[in-house]
Amino acid sequence: EKGEFRHFMQKEIFEQPTVVAQTLRSYLRRIDQTVALPQIDFDLSKINRVTIVACGTSFYAGMVAKYWFEQFARLPVDIDVASEFRYRDPVLEPGGLALFISQSGETADTLAALRHCKAAGQTIAVVVNVPTSSMAREADLLLPTHAGPEIGVASTKAFTCQLAVLAALAAHLAVKRGRLTRAEEADIVDQLAETPACLNDALSHDDEIAAMAPLIAPARDVLYLGRGPDYPLALEGALKLKEISYIHAEGYASGEMKHGPIALIDEAVPVIVLAPSGPLFEKTVSNMQEVRARGGKVVLISDAEGIAEAGEGCLATIEMPKVHPLIAPLVYAVPVQLLAYHVAVAKGTDVDQPRNLAKSVTVE
Ligand code: F6R
Repeated sequence: EKGEFRHFMQKEIFEQPTVVAQTLRSYLRRIDQTVALPQIDFDLSKINRVTIVACGTSFYAGMVAKYWFEQFARLPVDIDVASEFRYRDPVLEPGGLALFISQSGETADTLAALRHCKAAGQTIAVVVNVPTSSMAREADLLLPTHAGPEIGVASTKAFTCQLAVLAALAAHLAVKRGRLTRAEEADIVDQLAETPACLNDALSHDDEIAAMAPLIAPARDVLYLGRGPDYPLALEGALKLKEISYIHAEGYASGEMKHGPIALIDEAVPVIVLAPSGPLFEKTVSNMQEVRARGGKVVLISDAEGIAEAGEGCLATIEMPKVHPLIAPLVYAVPVQLLAYHVAVAKGTDVDQPRNLAKSVTVE
């Protein structure tokens, strides 16, 4: 039941602090400050490569994980959407971990890709929300999300729970490969344990985002920009907006702007910039200035430091808490979800049952 909420999607957005905490509880051992995966009978330190396959929002969670596996565990990662992967004859060498991400555990293309990898001798890991699903049954390493049933067709809480599991997996692989000291692991456990509080902070901007939605609702096109792990978030933001508000939106890596999409920019195109302060911030700010110089209206989503530095002249700013890089994508997911939600409400579309879409895509 929706309870006090107007839509399931809204309820599910607000459930995130609870379900992410619930999910992390089964991956973090607070007692000795370690990351603990479910019991498995092979040694993850032997993995020499990761192949990630998924569709839609689950694919974007995988794209975030690619940055983490490379950065923290120094593992080579290949990633593709399932509909391409299964038909492109990928090279799968012994010692590979094939990782499938799915809310439903039944997406036809992802399941077919899983079976293909299994036949090719890969170790099969699955991040899945439905524990009785086909993918869960066929996994060697089952990594459940505990998001609870997701009713809204647009995925929200399943996504942040996937990210929580993938962050724990990245940290675990890093430990196994000798890339993290005990102290660093303990620090990551502490930081991850802070995630639910950070999600609550992000949710506290709901009214503000609702108030800016009427500024975005009349747009015909919206661009989302991000760098590093926030690039997949830009793609996810654009997907959410397309799905439920039917506004054409595209996500781009900030640095790709000048290679084409900047031609689209004028006063009528809002540009949503996802940019936590940090080493890549200056670069994104200069991309943002290029947009502004062409009359583009920028909504900057950043932390206090980033907004103090670059917020002036923006159409709007949304302030996120300053968080560890392993948590930022979870936190930044919240404002993009809320923005899509409120724009759809402003346009009067059917938020929970968008046209042409099904919750589980069991045909290819
Ligand atoms: C977007 C959305 C879809 C799904 C995709 C994969 O909001 O819900 O893009 O993410 O169909 O579904 P699962 O995760 O069930 O494999």
